[in-house]
Amino acid sequence: MFRGLLPILFLLGLVNKSVLVHAQDDQSGFISIDCGIEDGSAYTDNVTGINYVPDTDFIDGGEIHKVLPIYNSFDVDTQLTTLTSFPQNTRSCYTLKPTQGKGNRYLIRARFMYGNYDFKSQLPEFDVYLGPDYWDTIKINSSSRPVNMEIIHVLSSDYIHVCLVNTGRGTPFVSVIELRLLAGDMYKETDYGSLYLFARVNFGSVFRTVRYKDDVYDRLWSSINWPNSTLLYTLDQVSSFLFTTIDPPSAVMSTAIMPTYPKDSIKINWNPDNTTDQFFMYMHFAEIEILKRNQTRQFNIYLNGNRIYPKPFSPLNHTTITVYNAEPDIAAPTYTLTINKTKNSTLSPIINALELYVLKQIPQRQTDDRDASAMWSIKSTYGITRHWQGDPCAPQEFVWDGLRCSYNTTDSPRITFLNLSTSGLNGGIDPAFANLTMIETLDLSNNNLTGTVPHFLSGLNFLKVLNLKGNDFVGPVPAELIAKSKKGLLALSFDGESTNDTLSSCDTNPCKNTKGNKIIVPVIATVVSFVVIMTAVTAIWVITKRRTHAKRKTGTGLEIRKQQYTYSDIQSITNNFNVVIGKGGFGTVYLGYIGDIEVAIKMLSESSLQGDKEFQAEAKLADFGLSKAFPTEVGTHISTVVAGTPGYLDPEYYTSNRLTEKSDIYSFGVVLLVIITGQPAIIKYKEENIHISRWVNLMLAEGDMKNIVDPRLLGDFDINSAWKAVELAMACVAHTPSRRPAMNEVMMELNDCLVMEKARKETNPRQLTGLSSLNLESAYDPNPR
Ligand SMILES: *[C@@H]1O[C@H](CO)[C@@H](O)[C@H](O)[C@H]1NC(C)=O
Ligand SMILES: *[C@@H]1O[C@H](CO)[C@@H](O)[C@H](O)[C@H]1NC(C)=O
Ligand SMILES: *[C@@H]1O[C@H](CO)[C@@H](O)[C@H](O)[C@H]1NC(C)=O
Ligand SMILES: *[C@@H]1O[C@H](CO)[C@@H](O)[C@H](O)[C@H]1NC(C)=O
Ligand SMILES: *[C@@H]1O[C@H](CO)[C@@H](O)[C@H](O)[C@H]1NC(C)=O
Ligand SMILES: *[C@@H]1O[C@H](CO)[C@@H](O)[C@H](O)[C@H]1NC(C)=O
Ligand SMILES: *[C@@H]1O[C@H](CO)[C@@H](O)[C@H](O)[C@H]1NC(C)=O
Ligand SMILES: *[C@@H]1O[C@H](CO)[C@@H](O)[C@H](O)[C@H]1NC(C)=O
Ligand SMILES: *[C@@H]1O[C@H](CO)[C@@H](O)[C@H](O)[C@H]1NC(C)=O
Ligand SMILES: *[C@@H]1O[C@H](CO)[C@@H](O)[C@H](O)[C@H]1NC(C)=O
Ligand SMILES: *[C@@H]1O[C@H](CO)[C@@H](O)[C@H](O)[C@H]1NC(C)=O
Ligand SMILES: *[C@@H]1O[C@H](CO)[C@@H](O)[C@H](O)[C@H]1NC(C)=O
Repeated sequence: MFRGLLPILFLLGLVNKSVLVHAQDDQSGFISIDCGIEDGSAYTDNVTGINYVPDTDFIDGGEIHKVLPIYNSFDVDTQLTTLTSFPQNTRSCYTLKPTQGKGNRYLIRARFMYGNYDFKSQLPEFDVYLGPDYWDTIKINSSSRPVNMEIIHVLSSDYIHVCLVNTGRGTPFVSVIELRLLAGDMYKETDYGSLYLFARVNFGSVFRTVRYKDDVYDRLWSSINWPNSTLLYTLDQVSSFLFTTIDPPSAVMSTAIMPTYPKDSIKINWNPDNTTDQFFMYMHFAEIEILKRNQTRQFNIYLNGNRIYPKPFSPLNHTTITVYNAEPDIAAPTYTLTINKTKNSTLSPIINALELYVLKQIPQRQTDDRDASAMWSIKSTYGITRHWQGDPCAPQEFVWDGLRCSYNTTDSPRITFLNLSTSGLNGGIDPAFANLTMIETLDLSNNNLTGTVPHFLSGLNFLKVLNLKGNDFVGPVPAELIAKSKKGLLALSFDGESTNDTLSSCDTNPCKNTKGNKIIVPVIATVVSFVVIMTAVTAIWVITKRRTHAKRKTGTGLEIRKQQYTYSDIQSITNNFNVVIGKGGFGTVYLGYIGDIEVAIKMLSESSLQGDKEFQAEAKLADFGLSKAFPTEVGTHISTVVAGTPGYLDPEYYTSNRLTEKSDIYSFGVVLLVIITGQPAIIKYKEENIHISRWVNLMLAEGDMKNIVDPRLLGDFDINSAWKAVELAMACVAHTPSRRPAMNEVMMELNDCLVMEKARKETNPRQLTGLSSLNLESAYDPNPR
C-alpha cells in the first residue's frame, strides 16, 4: 500500500534542503578545502567570499607545499598556490562527510596546479578515484595550467572519499577539493549515472570565470574567446523561467555571442575523449537585445547535421530557456553543433552558455554504511595509526590492514574479520563494535583494554571467534557469551580461561520468545475513478467521485476504463448539452451523468482552428496535454514555445518538445496542487511569479502543512491525508518524467487519502470537506486556454 510513498518522501527531502540553501544563499551545502595551507589557517577568499579550511581534518599524512613564486601571479586563485602531495603512500584518501548526507546530488570538484613545487620540473600523472570507483587520470601537462575535474553525483552513503593513487608516473598531489550541494531539481539526468564535466562555457564574456556568489551553486563558468563573433551584453537582470533551477546565473546569461557576418551560423566543435562516451548537452539561451517591432530572432539547432530541437527557436526576452537532451542518446566520434537562422529571422542566432557532461557509471560499491562508520569510530577512539584510508573494504586491493570483508555482488561489502591484536588499544571496548553486525572473528588480544566486557558483544549473531586475552578487563565475562561458547557457537578466549566446549543447552540461556500479534485492519475503500472516453468528435474526460464500497485486497488495482460513445449517447449523457461548466481553446465543456457518475464532456468546437484529426490522433492524453497537438497562434514570444494552459504543461515539453503519458501525470499533479491549496497554478510570491510546485516547496521548507492546504477549509481536514496528498501531487510534478507515478498508483494513493479522511470523519462528526470533494469545477482552470 505504501509502495509509492518512500520515493516521494525522498524527493521532498531533497527539495526542502535545496530551498534552504537557495534561500539563505549561504555555504551550508559547501565543503571547501584548500590543500597545503597550515593547520588552523582557515580563511575567507577575498574574491569569492568562500570559506576555505585546511585539509588536516579530512586526511592523514601528506606533505604541504607552495608553488614556486613565478606561478603565484595576481590572477591565480589563491587556493591553487598551495598543495598537499603524497610521496609515501600508493593510495591516499580524503573523506568528505557533507552534513546533508546521502541521497542528495552534489557537485564534487578537485583542482590541481603543479607550479613546480618540488623543483623537479617533472609533470606528474596519477589516478583519482571516487571511493572505490575510478574517476579519471590526471595528466599535468604544464606547470602553470591548472587542471580541474568535476562530477555531479548522487551520494549513496553519508560520506565520499576522493582518493589519489600513485601509478608510478609521479607523486600524486592536490590543490583544492570542493563539494557543493545542488538543488533537488537540478541535473536530474544523474538518474542515468554521474555527470562528468566536459565543458562549461560562458559565451560573450571577457571577464574572469563566473562562480560563487554569482552562482549560488558555485559552478565555474569559464569565459571563452570565440572567433568571428560579436559579443552581446545587457545590464538588465536575466531571470529564470518558471520551472528550472539549473539555470546559469544572470551574470552568465547577460552575455552572449552572435556571428559577426550576418550570413554565418554559430558552429561549435568538440571531440570526445572516448567515442563511446554519451553526452548530456545543456544549451542556455536568452534574448538580451531589445528587439524592434520589425525584428525577429529565430534559429534552428543541429547536432552533426540532425535537427535536435524540432522547431524554430526564439529566445525569450531576458529569460533563460535551456534546451537539453533528457536522455543519454548522444554518442559520436566527433561533434558539430550548428545554430543557424531561419529564413524569417532578421537577426543572427545567439548562444549565452553551454554545458557538456559525459555520462559515467560510478557503481559506488562501498562498505555498508554502519560497518564503515563503526570502523571510523574505532579508528578515532583508539587513535589507530595504521594506514587506514578511504573505504574500509573497497576496492578489494586496498582493504584496510587487519580487516576482511565479504563481497556480494548485490549488497555492499560487509566486515567479517577484524584483527586488532597488539595494537596498543587503551580504554574500554568502543560501543561501535556493536554495529559490526556481520562480524565473525574479532581479535582484541594483547592490548591495554580496561573496564568490563560489555554485554552487547553477545548480540553479534555471527560472531564465532572472540579473543579478549591479554587485557585488563574487570568483572565477569557476560553470561550470554559464556553460554554461547558452551553451546559451541563461539570460540571465546579470555584471561584465565578458554572455552571451546560443545555443550548444548538452553538452560543457561533465557530463550526469549515474543509472539507478535498480527493486526488485521479491514479497509473500506472509496474509489476515485478516471474514465477516458473518446469519440470521433467528442472527448469526455472524467474526474469524479464514484463511490464503491469494496474490501481492499492487495493487488486489486483500480480500473481504467475506455469506452466509445456515439453522438446520441453523448446527447443523453449531457441532457442535450444542458449545463456548461467551462470553455477552452477546443470548445465547450458540459456536465453530464453516466448512470450516477458525474462526467465532464468536452466538445470540439467546429469553429475551432484546431483540427479534428489532431484531436483524434491524441499522444490518450487528457485535456492539459492535449493542447500540444495543435498549432499554436503566434502572438507573444512565449507562445512559440509554450502551449497549453500556463502552469499545467509538463516542463519537459519546453526542452524535448515531446509529450508522453507522464506529461498528463504532471498536469494532473498541478490540478491536485490547485485543489489542495486553493491557489492558481502560477502564484505571485514576493513580487515574483512562481509555479505552484515551487510555492509548495517553499511552504514545505517552512515546515507548516497548514500553510499549504486551502485556508477555506479552516483546518478541518486529516493532516496525514493532506500530507500524503501533497506528497503525491509533488511526485506527479517531478521534473524527471520517469520519477512520476503511474495513474493507477496515483489513484491508489488518492484512495488511501480518502480512507484516512473518511476514518477521521467517522470519529469526528463535523462536515467533511477537502480532499474527498475532488470537485469538478475546481479541477478546471477557471480560464482554460
Ligand atoms: C586578498 O587577500 C590577499 C592576501 O590575503 C591580499 O594580498 C590581496 O590584496 C587581497 N585582495 C583584495 C582584492 O582585497
Ligand atoms: C595541455 O592539455 C590541454 C587540454 O588537454 C591542451 O589544450 C594543451 O594544449 C596542452 N598543453 C600542452 C603544452 O601540451
Ligand atoms: C573568420 O572569418 C574569416 C572570413 O570569413 C575566415 O577567413 C576565417 O577563417 C574565420 N576564422 C575562424 C577562426 O573561423
Ligand atoms: C572507451 O570506453 C569504453 C567503455 O567505457 C572502454 O571499454 C574503452 O576502453 C574506452 N576506450 C578508451 C580508449 O579509453
Ligand atoms: C525596421 O524598422 C526600422 C525603422 O524603425 C528601419 O530602419 C529598418 O530598416 C527596418 N528593418 C527591416 C528589416 O525592415
Ligand atoms: C543549417 O545547418 C544545417 C546543419 O549544418 C544545414 O543542414 C542547414 O542547411 C543549414 N540551414 C541554413 C538555412 O543554413
Ligand atoms: C525585454 O526586457 C527588457 C529588460 O527586462 C525590457 O527593458 C524590455 O522592454 C523588454 N522588451 C520587450 C519587447 O518586452
Ligand atoms: C515565416 O513567415 C511567414 C510569413 O510571415 C509565415 O507564414 C511562416 O509561418 C513563417 N515561418 C516560420 C517558420 O515561422
Ligand atoms: C548476497 O546477499 C543476499 C542477501 O544477503 C543473498 O540473498 C545472496 O544470496 C548473496 N549473494 C551472493 C552471491 O552471495
Ligand atoms: C550504530 O548504528 C546506529 C544506527 O545506524 C547509529 O545510530 C549509532 O550511532 C551507531 N553507533 C556507533 C557507536 O557508531
Ligand atoms: C600497557 O600499558 C603499559 C604502561 O601503560 C605498557 O608498559 C604496556 O606495554 C602496555 N601493554 C600493551 C600490550 O600495549
Ligand atoms: C575450538 O575447537 C575446534 C575443534 O574442536 C578447533 O578447530 C578450534 O581451533 C578451537 N578454537 C580455539 C579458539 O581454541
